[in-house]
Amino acid sequence: MSDLKIALIYFSATNVTRTYAEVIQKELISKGCEVKLFDVTSFSSRQKPLPLDNYNAFIFGFPVFGDFAPGVINDWLAKLKGNGTNCATYFTYGGRSTGYAHFHTRSLLKGAGFTVQFTAEFLGRHSINLAGWNLIPSRPDNNDFTIAKQFANLAVERFTADSAKPFCLQTPFAYDAKLAFLKNIEKKPERAPNQPVRIQENCSMCRLCETECPNQSFNADTGLSDPLKCISCFRCVYICPDKVIKVDDKMKEFYPHFLMQWSLTEEMAAAKKSRIITDFLEASC
Ligand SMILES: Cc1cc2nc3c(=O)[nH]c(=O)nc-3n(C[C@H](O)[C@H](O)[C@H](O)COP(=O)(O)O)c2cc1C
Repeated sequence: MSDLKIALIYFSATNVTRTYAEVIQKELISKGCEVKLFDVTSFSSRQKPLPLDNYNAFIFGFPVFGDFAPGVINDWLAKLKGNGTNCATYFTYGGRSTGYAHFHTRSLLKGAGFTVQFTAEFLGRHSINLAGWNLIPSRPDNNDFTIAKQFANLAVERFTADSAKPFCLQTPFAYDAKLAFLKNIEKKPERAPNQPVRIQENCSMCRLCETECPNQSFNADTGLSDPLKCISCFRCVYICPDKVIKVDDKMKEFYPHFLMQWSLTEEMAAAKKSRIITDFLEASC
């Protein structure tokens, strides 16, 4: 039996990151750890404080949205109090790139007082497949889950070692410029093609689209999302039991254009492998 009490905190709009959380939890439990999952996807789940004092280690799992963890999560993370506790991060991504996610989230966690020991990136079907894309539709697969189990075993090793050294990453190319660019983007009040809308009348009004929305954007009465708040995560499209929420067909039309812009093919994305990142070990960084 281990002394580790781990809180595994995740955001998951279309259940990829959650699936990995469950695999990691199962492996940790088989090694004698106590593990509790905290789903912080919905807006309401992030309004109440988590009982962080009950845990002696943390794992944070997030999808990559536009090269970063979701913005609503980054804002929330920065307010946590880590008190020097060990943690690890993992990111799920749709076969393009994890961009700045490892570096940026690590900086936020460090700023919040956590000691980030290592990180990982796991492949998962692209959320926009729900709008007609076809990026790694069969991932995660068993190879991905094997790496996720190795991640869990490394967590046990690192979180119990006396002298584990936190990992360090070099500042990614053009990081400051990218942050400045994002800060200056103005959201527009018009709906973009990647924002959801209810398209049919036969809706059972369960209101999941509203209660599960990560940013209080979707309105079940009007069937529209607020373009100033919508983060285009596909949560409402994925969870709707009546399958009446959709995004614009233009998202499918744009797919070849995006692949070209990213110099990416479906085969190249499928060839990518999940991996654990522990390099650049330096006590000072
Ligand atoms: C708005 C948005 C932006 C995304 N940006 C990226 C990206 O930059 N790189 C990438 O490889 N995948 C990207 N994806 C795909 C997701 O990272 C991937 O499908 C992830 O596994 C979804 O996890 P979830 O089901 O837990 O939400 C994006 C998805 C969405 C909805």
